[in-house]
Amino acid sequence: MTGRDGLTPEIESDITTEVTVAGLRLLVRPIRPTDKELLQTGFGAMSAESRAQRFHGSVSQLSPSTLRYFTEIDYVNHFAVVVLDLETDLTGVGFGRYIRIRDRPDAAEIALAVIDCYQGRGIGTVVVDALTATALSAGIDSFVVSVRLDNLPMRALLGVGTGGPPPDNAGVLTYECDLRSQDAARQSRPMYRAFRGAAAEAASHRTASGG
Ligand SMILES: CC(C)(COP(=O)(O)OP(=O)(O)OC[C@H]1O[C@@H](n2cnc3c(N)ncnc32)[C@H](O)[C@@H]1OP(=O)(O)O)[C@@H](O)C(=O)NCCC(=O)NCCS
Repeated sequence: MTGRDGLTPEIESDITTEVTVAGLRLLVRPIRPTDKELLQTGFGAMSAESRAQRFHGSVSQLSPSTLRYFTEIDYVNHFAVVVLDLETDLTGVGFGRYIRIRDRPDAAEIALAVIDCYQGRGIGTVVVDALTATALSAGIDSFVVSVRLDNLPMRALLGVGTGGPPPDNAGVLTYECDLRSQDAARQSRPMYRAFRGAAAEAASHRTASGG
């Protein structure tokens, strides 16, 4: 059975959670096919530097095909969340996704972005917690991330700190995060525990319905 946007109720509710972070009341939910405008507006609210950090190059707009690719996903091998500010008419403030690596079903590439005026307030942490919880329930144990050497917030978020492998010629380093070993530390956050519970419940519904 599908609901609005053609999503099943399990996907609609998958990790959908309200959280309060740094005084912001936020709604975290899976992306929907109808989120193309939300994504385009969010992209418009990112600085050139943030876009370059996210896409590792100069990207001036999201094309219709990129928007389709980002929003019309299967929620199994490609999963994405949006974070909305409940106090400002549901502005999209954070976006993140993982895409399972072909031939490596236990690993996925992760990428995320927070619009500039909301950065440094814990929203990146919300996105990574939500994606980690969902990934673990989907049998994914590692996130592979490509990040520029100077991207200290992203390196802190994924637990690589100032260490990690040497960067390539473009100053991008690619490393793998073991989600199981980070799980215990993340469990200290009630928000992460809520995501874990919601993701486990959604996964059990999918198993029960054969999805
Ligand atoms: C990377 C990004 C998603 C982080 O989001 P955020 O909401 O600012 O992150 P948070 O506020 O949750 O902070 C995450 C960590 O970075 C640290 N941090 C924040 N700003 C920092 C800075 N200027 N220097 C060093 N560390 C910083 C925080 O202390 C926190 O560390 P902790 O987990 O050890 O507590 C955001 O900066 C962004 O969208 N950047 C542009 C796009 C991008 O770089 N995407 C990642 C590549 S795919």
